[in-house]
Amino acid sequence: MQNFEYYNPVHVVFGPGSVLRAGEIVKNAGGQHALIVSYKNSHSVGSIVQKVCDSLEEKGVKYTRFEEVTANPLISQARAGIKLCEAEGDIDIIVGVGGGSVMDCAKVIAAGVLYGRDIYSMFMFSHSDIKSINPVRALPTVMIPTLPATGSEMNPTAVITDDETRKKSYVWEPSCLYPKAAILDPELTVSLPPYQTAAGSIDILAHVAESYLNPDPLVSDAPGGAVKSNLDLQDGMQEGVMKAVLKNLEIVYRDPGDLQARGVLMWAASIGLNGWLTSGTFGFTPMHQMGHVLSAVYNATHGATLCCMMRAWCIFMSRKAPAEKRRYTQFARRILGVPLSRAGEAIEQLGAKYGVETHISRFGATAADIDRLTDDVVKVSFGPDGFLNSNPKMSREDIREIYMISL
Ligand SMILES: [Fe+2]
Repeated sequence: MQNFEYYNPVHVVFGPGSVLRAGEIVKNAGGQHALIVSYKNSHSVGSIVQKVCDSLEEKGVKYTRFEEVTANPLISQARAGIKLCEAEGDIDIIVGVGGGSVMDCAKVIAAGVLYGRDIYSMFMFSHSDIKSINPVRALPTVMIPTLPATGSEMNPTAVITDDETRKKSYVWEPSCLYPKAAILDPELTVSLPPYQTAAGSIDILAHVAESYLNPDPLVSDAPGGAVKSNLDLQDGMQEGVMKAVLKNLEIVYRDPGDLQARGVLMWAASIGLNGWLTSGTFGFTPMHQMGHVLSAVYNATHGATLCCMMRAWCIFMSRKAPAEKRRYTQFARRILGVPLSRAGEAIEQLGAKYGVETHISRFGATAADIDRLTDDVVKVSFGPDGFLNSNPKMSREDIREIYMISL
C-alpha cells in the first residue's frame, strides 16, 4: 500500500423513507433558504422534489426550485442557477435532487455563488496546460440521489460540459465541494426505467474497475526489483463491490421493487467513489476520460459510454504481454468469470442483457470521427508527458486503436 490521507465529512442518512427527513437534515445543516436543483421536465423526479419541498416546508425552511438541469449538464445551466441565487439574495444551502448531472450542477452552483469570477475558470479543461482556478468556498449542499451511479453524493467532484466547445471536464476540490449530507433512500429508485438502472450500475462497476485495473504502480510486474505493494485489502473490497453490483443489478432487473437490492446498488455507488476503495492505491480513470468525450460529442449516456469502453479496453489489453495485462486477466477471471480472451464478449452479453450500448456506432460514431475523438482526449486528458494516465500509460495511437475497436 502507498501512504495516504483519508477524509470524508459527508453525513449519510440511509434507508427507505429517509427522503421524508429532508427538512430536518437541511435545517440541521444550517439551511434557512434552500435552492432545490433538479431536472428539467422530469415527471418521476418531480414527484420526489415535491416530497422534499413538503418536508422543508414542514420544518419552516424556505425554498426556491431550479429545475433546469439536463443529462450531461452544461456550464450555462449552472450559470443560470447562480443567477437565481443572486436574484433571491438569501439562499444559504443547495439541495440536489436527481442523478449525477443534478448533483454535479448543484455543487458548481454552490461554489459559483461565492467564486467571484466566471465559473468557466473552475474547470480542468487541459491536464497538460493547467489554467483552472479551484474554488475555495462553497455554500453547503445536501444531496438526494435518485439514480445510484456517480457517487457524487459522497465526493468533492463535479463534471460539466462546456456549451461552446462541447468538451466535458471537471472540478475536484476537497476543501469545499464535499456535500454536507447525503440522503440515500433506495425507495426513490424503484421507478427508474431498467435502462437507467443498468447504465447507472455499469457506471458504478466502471468506477471500481478503473482503479482495480490501474492500481498502485508499485504493484506492477516491473523488472528491477520494484517494491511489491500489498493490495489484498483493496482487491478484496473492490471485487466485493463489483460482484455485488452485478448480482444486484440482476435482482432488480427481475424484481424492480426489491428494496434490499436497490439499497445495495445505492450504497455501492457511494462507496465506489468516496475514496475508501482507492485509499492506499491509485485510481486512474482512462475509460472515463474516453467516455466523457463520447458523452460530450454524441450526448451519449455516461454508463453506456463506459460499457463500450470497458469492452474495447478488454479486447485491446488481451493482445498485450502477460505482465502488462495481468490486472485485466484477474478482472476477467474473478469478476466476469471468463478468460481475458473472452472478456469483450462477456461485456457485450452484459450490455445486451440490459439493453445498454456496447459499440459507439450506436451513438452515431463512424470511423471518420475517430481522429476527432482521439484529439479531444489528447487535448483534455493527456498529461504534459504526452500520455494518458493509466497503468500502463497510453499513447495517442493506443487511444485511437481503442476507439476503433469500440466502433
Ligand atoms: Fe462515472
